[in-house]
Amino acid sequence: MPVEIADTADLLGLFPPGSRVDPDGELVVGGCRLADLAAEWGTPLYVLDEAAIRAQVGRFRQALGARWPNSRMVFASKAFPCTAMYRLMAEEGIGVDVAGPGELAMALAGGVDPGRIVMHGNAKTGAELRMALDAGVGLIVIDNCDDIDRLEELARAEQPVLVRVLPGVRPDTYEAVATGQLGSKFGLPVPAARAAIARLRHSGKLRLDGVHAHIGSQILSVEPYARAIEAIAGLGDFTTYNLGGGLGVRYTYGDHPPSPQDWIEALVNAARDRLPRDAQIIIEPGRSLVAPFGVTLYQVVSVKGDDPRFAAVDGGMADNMEVALYGQRFEATIASRVGGGAPFELVGRHCESGDRLISGAILRDPRPGDLVAVAVTGAYCHTMANNYNGAMRPPVVFCHDGESRLVVRRETLADLLARDVSDGAPG
Ligand SMILES: Cc1ncc(COP(=O)(O)O)c(C=O)c1O
Repeated sequence: MPVEIADTADLLGLFPPGSRVDPDGELVVGGCRLADLAAEWGTPLYVLDEAAIRAQVGRFRQALGARWPNSRMVFASKAFPCTAMYRLMAEEGIGVDVAGPGELAMALAGGVDPGRIVMHGNAKTGAELRMALDAGVGLIVIDNCDDIDRLEELARAEQPVLVRVLPGVRPDTYEAVATGQLGSKFGLPVPAARAAIARLRHSGKLRLDGVHAHIGSQILSVEPYARAIEAIAGLGDFTTYNLGGGLGVRYTYGDHPPSPQDWIEALVNAARDRLPRDAQIIIEPGRSLVAPFGVTLYQVVSVKGDDPRFAAVDGGMADNMEVALYGQRFEATIASRVGGGAPFELVGRHCESGDRLISGAILRDPRPGDLVAVAVTGAYCHTMANNYNGAMRPPVVFCHDGESRLVVRRETLADLLARDVSDGAPG
């Protein structure tokens, strides 16, 4: 990975809009000084700019509604599942997608209208499907014929469904998050989808509304979407087409993702060419709604070495799996000395050499006790947080106009011990 030296303005461009450096040199996000947030909530800490997320949802909604009025949008909630985020999305007037009972429970707790929930999953158990049916989930996406068997058995009333189609499109992204290519575990290839559709057309309980395709995540070009839409268009005319999510975001200086407007324009242009004019279009972005508006705050614990020079922080792969899983590149700064500096290996505290948050992070004179802010961590970091080395998962704060509110508390030692029912000792 080439090291890019960027100036302070470039660096601030990776933080939520409106982020600034105070006269005393402290980085401010969502109107809150990061130093104050660390003092109040501790580190590691996920900081989200609430107004920026709301504005982004508005941008997508406006762009979609203006171009294809018979449309709706759902937040792919795996990008940031917590009750407050579900509530925020409901307040902004959009639905959510869920994959599994945990996300469904949080969505319901967050006040999401069940009719606006889309349920996904390539291994939905009977119990999960029953929960979705009982909750009145609006759309269930059929991934396989076992879903059909189970739903036929469980449904007591008509249940709208979509069929997830594998369009045979491999976008240019990390292998782990490419989902549209033949051989992917998600959905049904076109011939099998055709058979499932034929079966569903004769179902007494399941109402086939249409088809779904989601080709992957962190996709930085619009081009593969037209091919995916072409593939699903060949399956016949339906009332609903769910075109998935996947729009990539700018993690580092060399990333140039399409804007939400350009992405939606490309989807709609392909839909105009291929899909029925009166069909409903659903989009389900996740990462692009939240990633750029999140920052992870760490404290530097130790600095050592000459070549390489290491700066080790109090978090790592327990709160950011994106690096270890995909090799995603992030950028960071010392919160009180923003921008510039020299390359450091920004590493975590976990017992693996792969626990390296940023190789060649440009940091200005990191010292123990300094705060490090890693930008663009608003998607899939909180999601995949784990307890490696007994790490206690970080809290989440929403910032708005200089105020911060805790929406997920830090895990405690008591939480860690709570699930261990016995150490085998008698009595
Ligand atoms: C079915 C489905 N829809 C939407 C998304 C959202 O993707 P992204 O967060 O890249 O927008 C995902 C995530 O991979 C997904 O699995």
